[in-house]
Amino acid sequence: FTVPVLAANGQEITNVAHRGASGHTPENTMVAFDKAFEMKADYIEIDVQMTKDGELVAIHDTTVNRTTNGTGAVGDYTLEEIQQLDAGSWFGEEFAGEQIPTFEEIIDAYRGKIGILIELKSPGLYPGIEEKVADALIERNMHKPNNNKVIIQSFNHESVQTSKELVPNIPHGVLLGLQAAVVTDEQLAAFASYADYFNPNMNAVTDELVERVHAAEMEIWAYTVRSQEQADRLAEHEVDGIVTDFPEYVYDHPGN
Ligand code: G3P
Ligand code: CA
Repeated sequence: FTVPVLAANGQEITNVAHRGASGHTPENTMVAFDKAFEMKADYIEIDVQMTKDGELVAIHDTTVNRTTNGTGAVGDYTLEEIQQLDAGSWFGEEFAGEQIPTFEEIIDAYRGKIGILIELKSPGLYPGIEEKVADALIERNMHKPNNNKVIIQSFNHESVQTSKELVPNIPHGVLLGLQAAVVTDEQLAAFASYADYFNPNMNAVTDELVERVHAAEMEIWAYTVRSQEQADRLAEHEVDGIVTDFPEYVYDHPGN
């Protein structure tokens, strides 16, 4: 169960638990991150946003509607208010009472134990979020060279550049959707000037894309795997990392 799936070139693939082990537990909660750790994923992926009173919290959508018993925008809640919501019951009654965790709570619990892939989610809604994330990492001395199991990524590439300037020793990644399939070499070179990871929608991944990302000296971590077939296809294409709701698909099963 814990033998990594190897890429076609024999390399190990980094196993990233998307929003925690979100296929088994309610996404972006401590129980989901605990589950990812227990399943021996290499990284947890977390979506970071900001409350009305400037606190960093982990939640994917920009409203609380889907994953809690509340309604409304994340940015309209104070930390105290948002932490009164139940972020577990929607997934299963056994998870009732799970709270939306703070970013600081997560890094305090997991740094040094499992890698942390931090996504700045919709940072355009939260001016100053890059500084808040950087400050939390700097306070804990997590911004030093070779502190290499923390990565910051975003679909908002301006935000990635802002963050890279604040904490240049932390590796950064650019997230892309299906448009990753049509990226030019000039765009890849521009990304590589501030990013170490090029992280596309898995459906954009081809051998050619992987080769071109590697030629630009970045790693490629693809998202979001929800089946064994999808994991196996990405391994064939020799991606460096797989972001998955089910960490078990990035491990070899007997008889696989
Ligand atoms: O890490 C990649 C993945 O998290 C991006 O998509 O929508 O799940 O945040 P999303
Ligand atoms: Ca994410």
